[in-house]
Amino acid sequence: MKNVLIETYGCQMNQADSGIVGKILQDNGFRLTNDEREADVILINTCAVRDNAEKRIHNRVHDLKSLKKRNPLLKIGILGCMAERLKESLIKEDKVDIVAGPDSYRRIHDLINTTEPSVDVELSKEETYEDIVPVEINTDGISAFISIMRGCENFCSYCVVPYTRGRERSRSPKSVVEQAEKLFSEGYRDITLLGQNVNSYFYKEGEQTTNFAQLMAMVAQINPLLRVRFATSHPKDISEELVDTIAKYDNICKYIHLPVQSGSNNMLKTMNRKYTVEDYMKKIEMIRTKIPDCALSTDVIAGFCGETEQDHKQTIDIMKKVGYDSAYMFKYSDRPGTLASKKYKDNIDEKEKVRRLEEIIEVQRELSLQSNKRDIGKVFEVLVEGESKRDARKLYGRTSQNKVVIFDKDNNTKGDYIKVRIDDCTSATLFGKKL
Ligand code: SAH
Ligand code: SF4
Ligand code: F3S
Repeated sequence: MKNVLIETYGCQMNQADSGIVGKILQDNGFRLTNDEREADVILINTCAVRDNAEKRIHNRVHDLKSLKKRNPLLKIGILGCMAERLKESLIKEDKVDIVAGPDSYRRIHDLINTTEPSVDVELSKEETYEDIVPVEINTDGISAFISIMRGCENFCSYCVVPYTRGRERSRSPKSVVEQAEKLFSEGYRDITLLGQNVNSYFYKEGEQTTNFAQLMAMVAQINPLLRVRFATSHPKDISEELVDTIAKYDNICKYIHLPVQSGSNNMLKTMNRKYTVEDYMKKIEMIRTKIPDCALSTDVIAGFCGETEQDHKQTIDIMKKVGYDSAYMFKYSDRPGTLASKKYKDNIDEKEKVRRLEEIIEVQRELSLQSNKRDIGKVFEVLVEGESKRDARKLYGRTSQNKVVIFDKDNNTKGDYIKVRIDDCTSATLFGKKL
């Protein structure tokens, strides 16, 4: 029996996909391992969203060459978005044995079993893998991801995902609910429904149609002890119906990731985001009115093509205006083949991009600290996720708002819900006492 190690980089979607690959391999007589020394095959599930993500993978493949010296039969495979973007060139330049794009996983065992280097990067309009129940790889036994749709057709001008993931397609609600029920029965308590733009989730069977808000409600009704989250919502599409659904169910987490990308209407237009700052702020007000305790996070890109100092300042302004609880912040990375790469000049020099990014990070650090300070004295229901890495006498868990809380262990264990009063914080963590 061959041992396979699957390493995952990139987004949560890749995490879910690695589970699908793992299951297909198990069903075809392979064994999964975490130990690279006993692996016969190492598959790296990759991300192509920024150049530094790809550099990291090239380096990892290079490092694995030393294992190959010890075990000449070891096969190395590249899966996912970088496989889709770079195709055969990975065989020529990185000397890997297998290249499989995101829609080729049903054939992964065949690709491993051929003697010649093999490439399959065909994208599909239909593949959702909905009949495959993924294995949970490197799991904490509490949190899991369910991919409810694949692909993206938004074509934000900077973004490679529509090219690496192909057309948008949704899984049947039945298959999503069954997977969530199975996870719940196995002890999982926190499930995130995933799509690049979950608002375009849509499934039709005969006369019956299901949209994302309806799907969320179905999953929430499985059990009140199951927390339900989702990512990602595109600001142009987030609906009142979805926000009402989040408000209605206690177990749908009060946390929305609503990536703004930039606070400048010029930049938003160049980015092809299809909303203005004013549209975005209206959505934020709608959320705040309907769910006053909702946490909000964002993605921000610094130094996009043609970004002026004024555009940059507007990004900082909107961050402060919304008062995000957390943010993922990036400097713009030109991706060959995207609209921006073809049409606009990547004209902000590296030093300036870094300066703007650092400014943005500093603003967010302060906003996160303020947000956490506002929680001092409040009581939250915390789902225990494990032992604190720094102190075995403590546990950590998360609030519905997706904030990490550290507190004394007492008699509690993973999977418990407990009430904690917050008494201290940093910009990244809350500290509290069990009530
Ligand atoms: N579908 C999600 C995002 C997926 S990519 C959405 O629309 O929100 C995650 C984040 O990576 C994006 O939100 C964006 O902030 C960032 N990103 C994407 N392409 C990038 C690029 N070329 N350079 C820098 N950051 C990028
Ligand atoms: Fe990329 Fe835009 Fe699609 Fe998100 S919505 S994956 S940023 S193209
Ligand atoms: Fe990266 Fe692909 Fe996800 S490019 S962010 S792994 S969809």
